[in-house]
Amino acid sequence: MCGIVGYIGRRDVAPLLLEGLQRLEYRGYDSAGIAIHSSGKGGGLKTVKNKGRVRDLEAKVPARFAGNCGIAHTRWATHGAPNDTNAHPHTDADGHVAVVHNGIIDNSSELRAKLAADGVELVSDTDTEVLAHLVGRSQAPSLEEKVREALRHIEGTYGIAVLHADFPDRIVVARNGSPVVLGIGDREMLVASDVAALISHTRQVITLDDGEMATLKADDYRTYTTDGSRTAASPTTVEWEAESYDMGGHDTYMHKEIAEQADAVDRVLRGRLDDRFATVRLGGLNLDAREARTMRRVKILGCGSAYHAGQIGAQMIEELARIPADAEPASEFRYRNPVVDPDTLYIAVSQSGETYDTLAAVQELKRKGGRVLGVVNVVGSAIARETDGGVYVHAGPEVCVVSTKCFTNTAVAFALLALHLGRIRDLSVTDGKRIIEGLRRLPGQIAEIMEGEERIAKLAAEFADAKSMMFVGRVRGFPVAKEASLKLKEVSYIHAEAYPASELKHGPLALIEPEVPTVAIVPDDELLEKNRATLEEIKARSGRILAVAHSEQEKADDTIVVPRNEPELDPVLMGIPLQLLAYHTALALGRDIDKPRNLAKSVTVE
Ligand code: AGP
Repeated sequence: MCGIVGYIGRRDVAPLLLEGLQRLEYRGYDSAGIAIHSSGKGGGLKTVKNKGRVRDLEAKVPARFAGNCGIAHTRWATHGAPNDTNAHPHTDADGHVAVVHNGIIDNSSELRAKLAADGVELVSDTDTEVLAHLVGRSQAPSLEEKVREALRHIEGTYGIAVLHADFPDRIVVARNGSPVVLGIGDREMLVASDVAALISHTRQVITLDDGEMATLKADDYRTYTTDGSRTAASPTTVEWEAESYDMGGHDTYMHKEIAEQADAVDRVLRGRLDDRFATVRLGGLNLDAREARTMRRVKILGCGSAYHAGQIGAQMIEELARIPADAEPASEFRYRNPVVDPDTLYIAVSQSGETYDTLAAVQELKRKGGRVLGVVNVVGSAIARETDGGVYVHAGPEVCVVSTKCFTNTAVAFALLALHLGRIRDLSVTDGKRIIEGLRRLPGQIAEIMEGEERIAKLAAEFADAKSMMFVGRVRGFPVAKEASLKLKEVSYIHAEAYPASELKHGPLALIEPEVPTVAIVPDDELLEKNRATLEEIKARSGRILAVAHSEQEKADDTIVVPRNEPELDPVLMGIPLQLLAYHTALALGRDIDKPRNLAKSVTVE
């Protein structure tokens, strides 16, 4: 989604804001802009904005663009095409107010009509512009009250930062549904929609809650609610180092994040394996054994890759804990008026912890008395704070829009949770030990898979001209096929579909032809012969097959062999070569790998 950055303090603001935008550009990147309180002749607010990337904005910012207070924005368009006029910041008619906004104003059409009827000339197609005019037209004496008055007209979601020419000593920010994080520096204050833009300056941060606002001054800050009452937000320390956002010598974040999965999985396991009781220690789970034993079902909710990781998790929980479990897209769940069952454990899955559909599903569940845990990557994110407890996946910051290391860590986090629940219930010590040993083998086995990258890159080059691809798997293999299909689609733009292998003969087999290659997940498990029969079906129709398996598959044209682990853990490994396949296919096609078209890293709008 959009990225917002703000700074007020002793340093020259424009370079800091542009650097912050670079850090946030993965969140949204079709246009960018900056507004500052100019310390140049005549003072006042100065704004520069344009369609395109942050580097295009940087080239447009004039040499003499000095000041110590400003805001900036990278946009992922929701209302209005990406162009210079629709880029943020948006200003009021006199240019006295500048606003950057992440979110959607649901009643913007009605507000635009009212403003137009009052003679206001709206120059953009965006929802955000109405906010600038509402603040600019307020007669309230303080900037805080002007913003609060404006927000009373707003229905929808926002993370905003506001400047006003008459109040050069402050930035006012507000949050409702879209993330806003304050950075507390040495005689300087920062604000951003993501800690990525803050941690090269400070690791002391405050994450605003929905309905919370803040006033930032160079040497002070205060937080309060949108009705004006003070709040006592206390700073927390960000666990991630600034360096973890660097590309570390890789050409893309995607490659870096695929390559660092062995270390990332090490982190999600660290300190959590309990050999004494053949189980795991999950400190923040907040689910005692007695309560866990009464749970009669598990429902996992997430979007995109998080949903697919949840499907892997559901399979693991049902196998190891013998509790009926399933996963559902969060966006579907919240709109189908679900029956919330007191005996069901709900688990929200999210890398960013800010995905609006997932957050809204959690809020709907909580409203109806549901018991909700989180499996989340970003500590202190909205979903992490909204849920009753959970498991952090410790993947480190995932910058590439396309999820890889966080997907893998989430699947491992679910293995830990499944083992925990299983050993509270009927999973034996022997099986507990078996899974623990399997978990310990994962990092080394991931490193082993990475050694096969060169061959996978060669295979990828052969698929780059495919008009479509089919991904198939059974039971544990099906979510792997779904995630691999998504990876290919979102980074190479090649159409792909995932099907349960058993479903092919019920229709999709009609699509099979030499120009539509099939990737088949063929683990050496109890379904091996069934999966081999599927390879026969495809081969009989001249379909080209790439198998991901534990041994060469004679019916496949090519096989990527991955190391054996425990059957329940195989899905963690079998997807990794297919991350590399998607990466190298996109590379062969010259795609913008870290910022695929039309996508954003964290979708904080519906
Ligand atoms: C993953 O490759 C996609 N970028 C997307 O599907 C993502 O997984 C989804 O938007 C959920 O994001 P979250 O994990 O931050 O909630």
